[in-house]
Amino acid sequence: MEVKIRIADNFELDVRSHLIERGVAILGLRGSGKSYTASVICEQLLEAGQPVVIIDLIGEHFTLRERFPVLIAASGDAPYADVKGLTANSAPRLAEFIVEHGLSLILDLSHGLMVDRLRILGEFLEAFYRAEEKHRHPYVVILDEAHRVLPEKGVVRLKEIKKAQEKVEHYVYELSATGRHMAVGPVVVARRSAEISKLILSQCEVRILHKLVDPTDLKYASNWLTREEVERLRNLNKGEAVVVGLGEPIWIRVRRRLCSHGGETPLTKPVVTPDLSEAVERLTELLKAEKVPEAPPETPPSALVEELERLRRRSQELEQRLRVLESELSEAQAQVKSLEALAEERLRRIKELEARLPEAETWEEMRSDYERRLAELEEKLRETEEEKEELHRQLLEVSEDLEKLEEVKSLLMDWRDVIVELGQKLDVELIPSDIQAIVDERDHYRQLYEELKQETERRRRLTEDVLADPAVQDWVKTAKTTLKWFMDRRSEHWRILRKVVVTDPSYLFLPEEFPEVSVSPSTVASYLNDFALKGFVLKHEKAKMGRTAYSNALPLWVSQNVRRIRLDAPDEAIKAIVEELKSYVLKWR
Ligand SMILES: Nc1ncnc2c1ncn2[C@@H]1O[C@H](COP(=O)(O)OP(=O)(O)OP(=O)(O)O)[C@@H](O)[C@H]1O
Ligand SMILES: [Mg+2]
Repeated sequence: MEVKIRIADNFELDVRSHLIERGVAILGLRGSGKSYTASVICEQLLEAGQPVVIIDLIGEHFTLRERFPVLIAASGDAPYADVKGLTANSAPRLAEFIVEHGLSLILDLSHGLMVDRLRILGEFLEAFYRAEEKHRHPYVVILDEAHRVLPEKGVVRLKEIKKAQEKVEHYVYELSATGRHMAVGPVVVARRSAEISKLILSQCEVRILHKLVDPTDLKYASNWLTREEVERLRNLNKGEAVVVGLGEPIWIRVRRRLCSHGGETPLTKPVVTPDLSEAVERLTELLKAEKVPEAPPETPPSALVEELERLRRRSQELEQRLRVLESELSEAQAQVKSLEALAEERLRRIKELEARLPEAETWEEMRSDYERRLAELEEKLRETEEEKEELHRQLLEVSEDLEKLEEVKSLLMDWRDVIVELGQKLDVELIPSDIQAIVDERDHYRQLYEELKQETERRRRLTEDVLADPAVQDWVKTAKTTLKWFMDRRSEHWRILRKVVVTDPSYLFLPEEFPEVSVSPSTVASYLNDFALKGFVLKHEKAKMGRTAYSNALPLWVSQNVRRIRLDAPDEAIKAIVEELKSYVLKWR
């Protein structure tokens, strides 16, 4: 008869063709819902009246008793177990008993040393297999946490454990590979494909894959899934899975359990049927009667075994961690590669920019040139200051002398008249010759002073006259038009020009000395050549570092042009026109 069990809205497992003939493996990350799915399968099988044997290494499946009359036999002293203290000796009798009566069983191996638990399991499976050969009762055998009893080869194991595991592996393999002939189907539950014995995994054709993230597992999944589907698998939620091995992948959300799950809620009301009570009674009697003294353990002291078992588990954990670190490392390496490429790109850009900068030597020469020029100007300024002070001091002295002379003069004038009169009366020379000399010198200076005043006045008038001369004014207008014409052309012309007109005419500069403009030095040179053609810049071939240099010729340009009109134009007039043109340029815009 065809029995189907529904484990998700869109998916049913056929007991015969899926579970018994093909076998099922459930894989997934820790906490992704494997045990839950296995329990849903159990519940649905039990609902359908299909007996099961659950091998429970954690002690989380006993809650099935909330609804179903499943016998619980435990290796230790579990409070919920019907039969406690199961040993490797009593295990075969248990197996024979349940097969004989077609009972469902939870073989709870959550207590005791690993080596003892494996021995119990090995003995149980052997006897179960033999009993099945005889009775051929359909059974589904569920092995949760299979990676703990059937690890992939290469995991470090203690000799005794290895021996016991080999027996377990042998009978699980026998049941998976040949069980279909006796109507026994396996459900193997494990975390990672890489951790469980390949021999066993290969016997389970239907795979229910919960969330997987490890690259090795994803590679395994890619046997059935496209790249996008593998990505979807990586991001599944708890209870979601994909069924592969039955044609197209089927994405499922596993239905909710009928009983509570694991230790979430303690078992409060175990189901006990009359059949089950009777079976428990008989089994207990049987096991008691058959109790044979335990063979002396061939094992090393149990503390040692436990410690080695702990070490084995630790080594497994470390292997797992290693795999995680390896995948992190490869990610980090990829990141380093992309950073290296970025750094290379930046370096290339720096080199490009450096190539566009003038030679360091040229910069150095220009810098020392500037420094020298600055020192010269400072020296000149200091000298000028000193000169100014000296002149000021002299001026003070002269004006003091002048005051004294004035005083002496008025005294002398008063006294002279008296003395001269007295002298005439007495007919003697009464004015001392040195006083007369002072008077003469004073008069001489006064005359010089008067002349100087007149000359200054004359030059002032002449300056005014020249500046007011319509021909001179015409030329100044023309000069401004010329400057304006350049300044209107491009802002660069104006920027260059305003720097030129404030530069000391004796200073020679190169086209590179205009960092503030956005055009290249060769363009600056072509602008300076245009200015030179007009005359307000002078061009000096091979004058600075063997290169063509330029200087400010605005004062020269003004004086030559103005004096062509007015030969008598004084320096003051020339200076005033230069200042006017300079401020015209500076105030432009
Ligand atoms: N189909 C589901 N519906 C509702 N909740 C679920 C489902 N599947 C899993 N869960 C929730 O996720 C938790 C973990 O699930 P489960 O115990 O099955 O994980 P696991 O894959 O067996 O983990 P481990 O590898 O640690 O044994 C459960 O306690 C339950 O709360
Ligand atoms: Mg689990």
